[in-house]
Amino acid sequence: MRMEITNVSEYEKIAKQKLPKMIYDYFASGAEDQWTLRENRSAFSRILFRPRILVDVSNIDMTTTILGFKISMPIMIAPTAMQKMAHPEGELATARAASAANTIMTLSSWSTSSVEEVNSTGPGVRFFQLYVYKDRNVVRQLVGRAEKAGFKAIVLTVDTPRLGRREADIKNRFTLPPSLTLKNFVELNIEKMDMTNDSGLASYVGSQVDRSLSWKDVKWLQTITSLPIILKGVMTAEDIRLAVQAGVAGIVVSNHGARQLDYVPATITCLEEVVKAAQGKVPVFLDGGIRRGTDIFKALALGASGVFIGRPVVFALAADGEAGVRKVLQMLSDELELTMALSGCTSIEQITRNHVVTESDSNRNLSKM
Ligand code: GLV
Repeated sequence: MRMEITNVSEYEKIAKQKLPKMIYDYFASGAEDQWTLRENRSAFSRILFRPRILVDVSNIDMTTTILGFKISMPIMIAPTAMQKMAHPEGELATARAASAANTIMTLSSWSTSSVEEVNSTGPGVRFFQLYVYKDRNVVRQLVGRAEKAGFKAIVLTVDTPRLGRREADIKNRFTLPPSLTLKNFVELNIEKMDMTNDSGLASYVGSQVDRSLSWKDVKWLQTITSLPIILKGVMTAEDIRLAVQAGVAGIVVSNHGARQLDYVPATITCLEEVVKAAQGKVPVFLDGGIRRGTDIFKALALGASGVFIGRPVVFALAADGEAGVRKVLQMLSDELELTMALSGCTSIEQITRNHVVTESDSNRNLSKM
């Protein structure tokens, strides 16, 4: 008998059993000591609820609008690379599951399906995650293709001038399996990773990605596309102020799934600082460590306009393809709806700061005593 999956974390165990070690380790790992990887999860567990009672919760509306697009819930799909390593249908299955759930999928630059192939899966609101290559013609071409293929925003990753040190990838000599390519780069002849004595991805990033990327390049990107630009990887008030000045359309508080700089705080810990500094001028999203509807409610209560889910999607894809991703989105949606009901909220706007209590609240109260 097939075991019933009752929460999204269970997919990780199945994926671990099913996937070759090199591939599971690539998806699962964080940087160096993996302190931030653990902290992204444990910081959620230190935030508690202040539920309201005797509210009529017989109808709950989870719909929301992101950059003008109405979606079924504030739960979207984060960009994760090379999804055909998880399942033969890879990004195509993820795109179909996102469309079925009426939510947004973000496609990684390093996808194993091209922007055109993902577009051909059918209608759906999709964002394109961008790495800026040293060769700006590559960027021009890629952004132009994404735009033509109907993608609705560029999600510029700003935390990866170099790849973080992921020791499992170094030990495993991680490289893209020979049957797969970074599909968007085939015509440009930069679709493969060399075998090295290091992580093949770290070497690829070292040779291709522009480590001189700076604020002036955000301006440049605005000149080559009419799509809105979301910065992914903002962690401080200082940088959100610069992001607002640069005229971006939104930001994602992200530590890249704890895969870049170890010992940065959990994203949920940085969220409030960033939201305050944004002063409502741009929407602030969050990714990192989300495994429960309660985590999503906490992020919304602390000011996020929506969240992005990464590893749970990849692990569900590995376990059960499109059906797995559909189920992950459904479980998180059901859990968020239940959390809203049990907290006395019938719409996303009704989720407020007063519905949660954080460690900084406790410290503030102690200092008043
Ligand atoms: C890709 O973005 C990675 O972090 O491996």
